[in-house]
Amino acid sequence: MSVHSAAVLPAPRAPLAVVTATTPEPAADEILVRVRAVAVNPVDWVIQGTSRITYRWLQTPAVLGSDVAGEVVAVGSGVSRFRVGQRVFGLATGTDKGRDPLREGAFQEHTVLLERLAAPTPDTLTDEEAAVFPLGVSTAACALFQPAHLGLRMPTGETPSEQGGVVVVWGGSTSVGMNAIQLARAAGYDVVSTASSRTAATVRALGADGGVDYTAASAVD
Ligand SMILES: NC(=O)c1ccc[n+]([C@@H]2O[C@H](COP(=O)([O-])OP(=O)(O)OC[C@H]3O[C@@H](n4cnc5c(N)ncnc54)[C@H](OP(=O)(O)O)[C@@H]3O)[C@@H](O)[C@H]2O)c1
Repeated sequence: MSVHSAAVLPAPRAPLAVVTATTPEPAADEILVRVRAVAVNPVDWVIQGTSRITYRWLQTPAVLGSDVAGEVVAVGSGVSRFRVGQRVFGLATGTDKGRDPLREGAFQEHTVLLERLAAPTPDTLTDEEAAVFPLGVSTAACALFQPAHLGLRMPTGETPSEQGGVVVVWGGSTSVGMNAIQLARAAGYDVVSTASSRTAATVRALGADGGVDYTAASAVD
């Protein structure tokens, strides 16, 4: 049995404690990752500070954290997209309903990721850079593409489709918004985004065709 260090929330609204945890075996659709970098997201302290008020299903002890980058150390029997030794980043789902908050939290030295919620880390990104993407990009993707949300067509490859349409991203300079702009552009939409004068150039560089200053009285028009 292998063990590793984990930052555990031992009880609702308690400080995190570093403990020795059993290193999990990946299930058929999972990869086991040696964690090299994590991102701390506002939702992490919301969960820690409110626990079952906002995450009613969350049992403690739990390992928090959603954003992981690292290296694959084992793959499940059904995994085809990853191999041992590969650099990956992905969304740790331990605090989601029905998931295991000890096996699947980010804030530990080894965690399991669902194969479908992980991606190879490009050589151009450090682990620290890659770790900031998963929750932001998945939130934006859910909002744009899930049938229960906007249900837009998804990106299909390297070249954006030419089917047209316009997506308005309110708050394009936010973490989620910057991902939403790029995903919508990749799906072939024109993007109009709000941004302050401070971040207008950034949202344009990410692919927004038009920028609206949300502090202007005419922004909604
Ligand atoms: N980050 C995540 O992974 C995540 C996950 C799930 C849900 N969410 C939710 O998504 C929303 C955005 O979160 P975030 O983490 O992406 O934000 P963030 O990165 O903290 O965004 C901060 C930026 O938002 C812009 N902003 C501030 N007030 C605004 C307003 N009234 N209208 C438009 N833009 C404004 C500011 O940019 P300017 O320079 O343009 O003013 C500011 O720099 C929040 O409601 C959050 O709870 C986030």
